[in-house]
Amino acid sequence: MVSDKMAKALNAQLNFELYSAYVYLAMSAHADSVGLKGFANWFNAQYQEEMMHAMKFFNYIMDRAEVELEQIDKPRKEYKDALEMFEETLKHEQEVTARINELATLAIDEKDHATNTFLQWFINEQVEEEATVKEILDKLKLAGATGPGLFMVNNELGTRTFAPPADANA
Ligand code: FEO
Repeated sequence: MVSDKMAKALNAQLNFELYSAYVYLAMSAHADSVGLKGFANWFNAQYQEEMMHAMKFFNYIMDRAEVELEQIDKPRKEYKDALEMFEETLKHEQEVTARINELATLAIDEKDHATNTFLQWFINEQVEEEATVKEILDKLKLAGATGPGLFMVNNELGTRTFAPPADANA
C-alpha cells in the first residue's frame, strides 16, 4: 500500500494524463478542421500515447491503492495557428514534467521506493516528450508556419504512428 497522500497524488496524475489525452484529442480535431491532416494525425498519436500513460498510472494505483476517477477539465478548442499549437504542447509537456518530478520528490520523502521506481519510466519519457516537441517547434520556426514550410511539416507529421511499448500495461 502507498500512503493516503501518495495515493491522492497518483490519482491526481492519472487525471492529468487523461486531461492531457483530451487536450491533444481536441488539438487533433482542430487541426483537422483547418485542413492540417498531418498535424491531426500527430496529435491523434499523441492522444493515444497519453492514454497509455494514464493506463500505466491506473494499473499501478490498482495494485497499491484505490483508483479515484475525477472530472476531466474541458480542453481548449481553437488555436491561432500551427505554431501556437506546438508552443502550447511544449508548455503542457513542461507542466507534466514538473508534476512527475514533484511526485518523485514525494516518493523519495516518503521512502516509497516502489513508487519512485515506477516513476523513473515517466522521468525518462518526459525527456523524450519535451525533446520531440521542441524539435517540431524549431522546425516550424525554421521552415515557416505558413505556406510551403507548413506544408512540409504537415506532411512529415502525417507519417507518425503510435506503437505502444512492450511494457505499456506494466
Ligand atoms: Fe503523459 Fe505527454 O505526458
